[in-house]
Amino acid sequence: MSQLAILGGDPVRKKGFAPWPQYKPSDLDRIRQTVESRHWGGFPYPTPLATEFCKAFADLHGARYALPIVNGTVSLTVSLQACGVNFGDEVIVPAYTWDGTATAVLAMGAVPVFVDIDPDTYCLDVEAARRAITPRTKAIIPVHLAMRFTDMDALMALAREHKLKVIEDCAHAHGGAYKGRGAGAIGDIGSFSLQESKLMTSGEGGLLTTNSLEHYEALQTVINCGRASLTDEYGRRMIGLNYRMTDLQVALLVGQLEMLPELRTLRAQRAALLTSLLNGVPSVRTLPAQPEITQPTHYTYVFQYRPQPGTPAPHRDLFVAAIAAEGIPCDGRFYEAVYKSDLFHATPDNCAQLKSDYSTVSCPVSERAAYEESVWFFQFCLIGEEEDVRDLARAVEKVSSNLELLAKQDPSLAGVKAMGRAQRARFERTKNY
Ligand SMILES: Cc1ncc(COP(=O)(O)O)c(C=O)c1O
Repeated sequence: MSQLAILGGDPVRKKGFAPWPQYKPSDLDRIRQTVESRHWGGFPYPTPLATEFCKAFADLHGARYALPIVNGTVSLTVSLQACGVNFGDEVIVPAYTWDGTATAVLAMGAVPVFVDIDPDTYCLDVEAARRAITPRTKAIIPVHLAMRFTDMDALMALAREHKLKVIEDCAHAHGGAYKGRGAGAIGDIGSFSLQESKLMTSGEGGLLTTNSLEHYEALQTVINCGRASLTDEYGRRMIGLNYRMTDLQVALLVGQLEMLPELRTLRAQRAALLTSLLNGVPSVRTLPAQPEITQPTHYTYVFQYRPQPGTPAPHRDLFVAAIAAEGIPCDGRFYEAVYKSDLFHATPDNCAQLKSDYSTVSCPVSERAAYEESVWFFQFCLIGEEEDVRDLARAVEKVSSNLELLAKQDPSLAGVKAMGRAQRARFERTKNY
């Protein structure tokens, strides 16, 4: 095996991966038509173009309704508002997710209650959620993280038993399905992000899905400055701001949705190949298959770094840095345990709804995933040539066969270990994508 690139050897890969986002000439035509139509905004809400697009998006997920919105964070706040979550109410969220899942709860004056994740899916542990329920709990936000789902049957049963609302954070799950039910069509409301790294994107943006007319109307009202919804059967009057998506963004999304099924299939095939190549590599554990997922979708490919106990091995961050040096885009600290994250500034001083800060919270599985174990590959590595995936596996295998050597290196090499987000962003830019 040749010398590790991080130690001066030749990298496994010297060229980039598939570009992201993807677009087709027809997208440019559609954008041009929208520009020429001189109708660029999002009013009246939803616009005719958005209505047509949302029908197709809802159909793909088996949901009755869908609505566009400015991003996948505000889609969570308006979902909480539509579900009647009020100041001081508690909302259960997984500790291992993007910070926005929890800060959206804070923004609504509610209290995010962190619960741990399942070690095999990295998604919300339903039994941990059960233990976290109090008389103040109003909602649960499961996150369908990376390439797996929470046990949605158990979660929905728990929620119905305690009369809690379920808002699915589907920021990673466009086009996915669990036991034949589409992401975002299982709980009360589904919230999708369309930020640039996501499986469909309009640069920024978000989508909401629901099967409930009452929620559909409430969401429209909150997104559209408090105006009555188009049907207004429930007549709910709520404070609303302007969270409308522009038609220029919708014009981009039409093509994104058309591409989704084909890319989804390709990613699933490549992910299966990658799993078969990684199985058997020392120090690597692939996530067990989840047969309940009837339509896989991969926002990222995640596996676990599990060096043999008792044998010398570098920290996960150095393992990841060594893979990155082989020319492979990857990440370890993709997410933090949110309550420890340097973006989570919640204290009783700046959030009046909090009675204490989060310094005593402990979710060990989330912390292990965030700081010791998880390795994330980006989805664009799964949509190019089959050889791309073989390079991912070659790089992991190369680094895994050199763990002892890597563990002996000058600890300054492990500088990445203690990196915060800002430092890491600088480190990311130096990678050869
Ligand atoms: C799990 C999760 N929830 C919410 C969001 C927020 O979405 P947005 O960036 O569109 O506001 C993201 C996006 O990064 C996410 O990954």
